[in-house]
Amino acid sequence: MAEGQIVAGLLAPHPPHLVYAENPPQNEPNSEGGWEQLRWGYERLRKSLEDVDYDCIVILSPHWQTYVGTHFLGLERFESLSVDPIFPNLFRFKYDVTVDVELSKAIHDQAKDDGLAVKMMENQDFRIDYGTITSCHMIRPEWDKPIVSISSNRGHAYYSVEVMQEMMIQLGKATRKAILESGKKCVIVASNSLSHRHFTTESEVPEDMSVEHISSHAMHLWDMRMIELMRSGKSQQIVNEMPEFVEQAIAESDGGALTWMLSALDMPDEPAILHGYGTIIGTGNAIMEWPSRNWRENS
Ligand SMILES: [Fe+2]
Repeated sequence: MAEGQIVAGLLAPHPPHLVYAENPPQNEPNSEGGWEQLRWGYERLRKSLEDVDYDCIVILSPHWQTYVGTHFLGLERFESLSVDPIFPNLFRFKYDVTVDVELSKAIHDQAKDDGLAVKMMENQDFRIDYGTITSCHMIRPEWDKPIVSISSNRGHAYYSVEVMQEMMIQLGKATRKAILESGKKCVIVASNSLSHRHFTTESEVPEDMSVEHISSHAMHLWDMRMIELMRSGKSQQIVNEMPEFVEQAIAESDGGALTWMLSALDMPDEPAILHGYGTIIGTGNAIMEWPSRNWRENS
């Protein structure tokens, strides 16, 4: 069997506003658009992946929160209605998700062998979080690729950013090893915003772009710093600065997704591509791609 490959790593933020603004048939509410800068960014990302052959999307979302270890979806199909708890007016999405249980179990088993606390989620009534659904929808609205969905074990909330990162680096290594051994080609996705200080009120028309902007200058500076580090291939520096970033920018990378993804890519020195940046209710969001398929064999 040929060795598997991570064909791309992505930073793919998941505010439900993006799906709301796209008006796909699966989502109940209707919009007049909005957040075009980011939606055009996702369009560029989809174009970049258009001719790339891959089998599966492996995603870690901070909105599937598990407090005892890392969990993995363990059943072939999940079908239900996902309602955003904060924005039920924007996101009521009928989903039908196929899971690559074989790969999910392989990553689970590797992580377990490496000493991490893990569990397969095998409750058919389990409702998939809106973060996973939004990022997957914006990356691949056809929903024709199976996914592996990984929970956020909230190491930051329980312990500290440092402990969270140690666990996510280990989980990233396990993910990489399992993918290479599986013979499959995968896109791996960190589903999170950058700075995450958001407005506490919503305008009358949610998609009114005249009121959309970054919540503060400090948040803007942090977002630009992180994007520049990504664009110049300074993965290790991102990990090193993560404690300050999370504390000062209330960054959503506190869920571990970004550290996990960079670790699964083996802390790349290669630059990431910026497909788009924009704010959503004041939070900073970048759509980035690490095109590892072009770097070296079996990256
Ligand atoms: Fe979020």
